[in-house]
Amino acid sequence: MPEYHVKNLEQAPGGRLKIEWAAREMPVLKQIRERFRQETPLKGIRISGCLHITTETANLAHTLQMGGAEVMLCASNPLSTQDDAAAALVHYYEIPVFAIKGEDHQTYYEHIHAVLDQKPHITMDDGADLVSTLHQDRTELIGNIIGGTEETTTGVIRLRAMAKDGALRFPVIAVNDALTKHLFDNRYGTGQSTLDGIIRATNLLIAGKTAVVAGYGWCSRGIAMRAKGLGANVIVTEVDPLKALEAVMDGFRVMPMLEAAPVGDLFITSTGDINVIDTHHMELMKDGAIMANSGHFNVEVNIEGLRRMATGEPRHVRPFVEEFTLPDGRVLFLLGEGRLINLAAAEGHPASVMDMSFANQSLSAVHIFQHGHELAHAVYSVPESIDQQIAQLKLAAMGVRIDGLTEQQQHYLASWQEGT
Ligand code: ADE
Repeated sequence: MPEYHVKNLEQAPGGRLKIEWAAREMPVLKQIRERFRQETPLKGIRISGCLHITTETANLAHTLQMGGAEVMLCASNPLSTQDDAAAALVHYYEIPVFAIKGEDHQTYYEHIHAVLDQKPHITMDDGADLVSTLHQDRTELIGNIIGGTEETTTGVIRLRAMAKDGALRFPVIAVNDALTKHLFDNRYGTGQSTLDGIIRATNLLIAGKTAVVAGYGWCSRGIAMRAKGLGANVIVTEVDPLKALEAVMDGFRVMPMLEAAPVGDLFITSTGDINVIDTHHMELMKDGAIMANSGHFNVEVNIEGLRRMATGEPRHVRPFVEEFTLPDGRVLFLLGEGRLINLAAAEGHPASVMDMSFANQSLSAVHIFQHGHELAHAVYSVPESIDQQIAQLKLAAMGVRIDGLTEQQQHYLASWQEGT
C-alpha cells in the first residue's frame, strides 16, 4: 500500500474550499482546535480513524492534528468518501488518507489495514470495523492501544456485544451515547440528510407520498419528522412497543411492514438490523416503489433476495438509482446500493451537527489518552462534564443565552421538606 490512497490529488483545491466552508458551521470544534493548538494534549499520540471521509471529518482530523496527534484516516463505508476532501487532507493537511468513493470490499479492508499499520494508540471508529479487524486479524497491535472512541449506534451495539462476550481488549468511549451527539446528529442530522440524499438521487416530490419509515430510534424519528414536514403521509414500523407507542402519539400511523408494504411509495430503513425489508414485503409492493436505507450497514433491505426475485440485471436509471424488474412486470427501485443514502447520494449530516459530534470525539480522545490506563476493557459513556461543556459552547456560538438557577431555587431543588 502506498503512503496514501485517494482518487485524485488534483481535486485537493476544491476539497480545501469545502473543508473551510464546513468549518464556518463548526464553531465548537474551532474553539477546541485553538485550545489544542496551545496545549497539544495529544502530543505524540497516533490516532487511526475509520470514519466517513467528509469535509466535517477533515475538520476533526485537523483538530486532532493541532492537538499533537499523528492522524491517519480510512473510510468507514465504501460509498461515503468525498474524494475532494480526501485529496485536500493529503495535499494540504499532510494527513494520510486511504479512501476512494466506490472502493470494493477488498480495497475497503486493505485501507483499514493500512491505517492500522501505523500502530495506533487510539482508534476512532464509525461502525466498529476498525476495532473488529484489530480483534480478529491484527491482535499483535492491541498491546499498543490505550483505547478507542465509537461514533455510531451500530458500532456501539457491536462493541457492547464484544464486551459481553469478554472479547473487547481495551476501553472504548461510546460517543454516540452523549446527549449532544445522538439527540442532534442522529435526529436532525440523519433526518435532514436522508431526505436530502433521497431527493438528490430521485428528484422525487415528497408531498403526498406515503413514506414508510422502518424503526423509531433517534435516526428514524428524525427521518419521520422531516418526511412529514415535506408533506409525506408517514407510516412507522417498529418492534419495540415503547417506541411504537411514541410514534403513535407523535401522530404517525404504526403497523407491521407486511401491512405497510402494499401502500408505501417510499421505504426508508434505519433500524440497524438485517432484512427489515425482505422479499415477502417486496412481493406486495406497488409498481415503482422506492427503497432506501439510512442505517449504517447495507443489510436492512434484502438486496440478494431482490436480485434473485428480479428478472435479469438491474438497470442504472440515474446515479444511485437501480431499477429491478419483477417477473409480473412491476419495477422496484433501490437507492445507493442499499448503503446509507445520506452519505452515498448527498453529503451526510450538515456541519453544524457534526460540530457537536466531533467536539465529543476530540474531547473523548483526550479523555481516553489521559484515563485509558485506569479503565476496564468495557464501553464507557462520554463524561457528563464534556456533554455539558459542548452544549454550553454550542448555545454560546449560536448567540442563545439561558437562565441560571437562583440560590433559592437551588436550595429548593436540594430540599425535600417543603410540599403542598
Ligand atoms: N456521519 C453522518 N454525516 C457525516 C458527516 N457529514 N461527516 C462524517 N460523518 C458523518
